Amino acid sequence: MDPWSARHLWAGLILAIYALFCAVIFRRHARRNRPVGAGEGILVAYATQTGFAESLARHTVTGLVAAGQAAWAEAIDRLDATRLSGLTRALFIVSTTGEGDAPDHAAGFVRRVMGATTPLSTLQYGLLALGDRDYAQFCAFGHALDGWLRRQGAVPLFDMVEVDNGDAGALRHWQHHLGQIAGHVHLPDWTTPDYQEWVLAERHHLNPGSPGASIFHLRLTPPPQAIVDWQAGDIAEVGPCNPPDMIAAALADGGGDRAETRHGRTRPLAHWLAETILPEGREPLPHREYSIASLPSDGTLDLVVRRMAGPDGRLGLGSGWLTRHAPVGGPVRLRLRRNPGFHPPTDDRRLILVGNGTGIAGLRAHLKVRARAGLGGNWLLFGERTAAHDSLFDDELAAWQASGILTRLDRAFSRDGARPVYVQQLLAAAGDTVMEWVQDGAAIYVCGSLEGMAAGVHAALTDILGQDTLEELAVQRRYRRDVY
Ligand SMILES: Cc1cc2nc3c(=O)[nH]c(=O)nc-3n(C[C@H](O)[C@H](O)[C@H](O)COP(=O)(O)O)c2cc1C
Repeated sequence: MDPWSARHLWAGLILAIYALFCAVIFRRHARRNRPVGAGEGILVAYATQTGFAESLARHTVTGLVAAGQAAWAEAIDRLDATRLSGLTRALFIVSTTGEGDAPDHAAGFVRRVMGATTPLSTLQYGLLALGDRDYAQFCAFGHALDGWLRRQGAVPLFDMVEVDNGDAGALRHWQHHLGQIAGHVHLPDWTTPDYQEWVLAERHHLNPGSPGASIFHLRLTPPPQAIVDWQAGDIAEVGPCNPPDMIAAALADGGGDRAETRHGRTRPLAHWLAETILPEGREPLPHREYSIASLPSDGTLDLVVRRMAGPDGRLGLGSGWLTRHAPVGGPVRLRLRRNPGFHPPTDDRRLILVGNGTGIAGLRAHLKVRARAGLGGNWLLFGERTAAHDSLFDDELAAWQASGILTRLDRAFSRDGARPVYVQQLLAAAGDTVMEWVQDGAAIYVCGSLEGMAAGVHAALTDILGQDTLEELAVQRRYRRDVY
């Protein structure tokens, strides 16, 4: 081949490689920023004034994609009604600026899209509202967007998460929801909670013999000299540990070696490793969240935890640690997180408390507040499996009924009757009374499982009260949920 055609051949080859390289880069960029088509993955739309919401949107996408969930981030101004109505799932991360205003780049979206009506009944969404309580209108744009989406028929996957000045606890709560959305996986914490060492003082099996998984009532005492305070509705974030025998089990697969410890006694290698090289299994395990079931004046922080096990029988990291591996009398790493979205009402209005399973925890704390204040006008509707084994805190509820704190108690036991009855059916059956209590100013608190119960209760309340009234109750903070 003569030199002239060889040179041209090389040039052509280099050009082709370069073109290929550009195409790959272009495709990757286009895929990362391409508008979300109907039904494909999760759109993470952000509205930002100073960049925080955008960085959280990118973090959110990275976390979801790492968990195997397709997701894209886009500025909210790129959305229009057509695109919105083509979505099935979306997350919104929006800040507030000015005096309760939407970030500048979202102004067009507010006027064009939120200024009109768009049927969005196929859309499920989550919303992270960034703000600062020092401003009169805290998270105003987040609330406005949430209200508009609900009025279009969109269904919240969980209640809006408000973030006061970048509060790390609220951001971890958002992550907790992302884990649920991504299929109950646990995403690594964006910021590690500053745990305190509490002591597991007591552990009681609440439902022995139940067809359902075991539920435990745990009492924890605070670190000495620590000043701890919380309100009903607040959350305990627990840092689970890999107990020695779990590591032992993992290592034992590698054979039963023994080693000399500092105290001269010989111990299985696994135990030695677990206690020396990996104290408390100090891998950065993601936190677990639990509703607090007591008040500081009780002297202990109470939790109600169901022991979860995977298809292979291995216990859940959090529930396995708390209900089995953490020794009574031993340390539990715990951090308190404020959850203003589920705090008690500031006045003495009546309360309709609705829940199932371990949701009794959050509701028990609210009943304790009412009992402390001598406030009656409380109605509990609760669902579990069997009356014989799952009448959780039966004595306490009976005492509250006797004292008049609990005006009414309705319980559904799904395994007892010929046909399963759930708490939402109790609500539907008592619709007139629910309407009467709400018209009289009552607030509704829902605590328990997101799947099944929360949606069923929401649908029952929508049938009883109507969508507009229920949305209005949410805006007035008279419809509050802690669902997980
Ligand atoms: C000029 C200015 C005005 C703000 N106005 C409000 C407000 O009215 N309500 C609120 O809750 N937060 C307000 N904030 C707080 C922001 O919403 C908060 O800092 C947020 O994290 C910023 O997120 P971004 O960087 O994505 O815009 C304001 C912040 C600034 C700088």
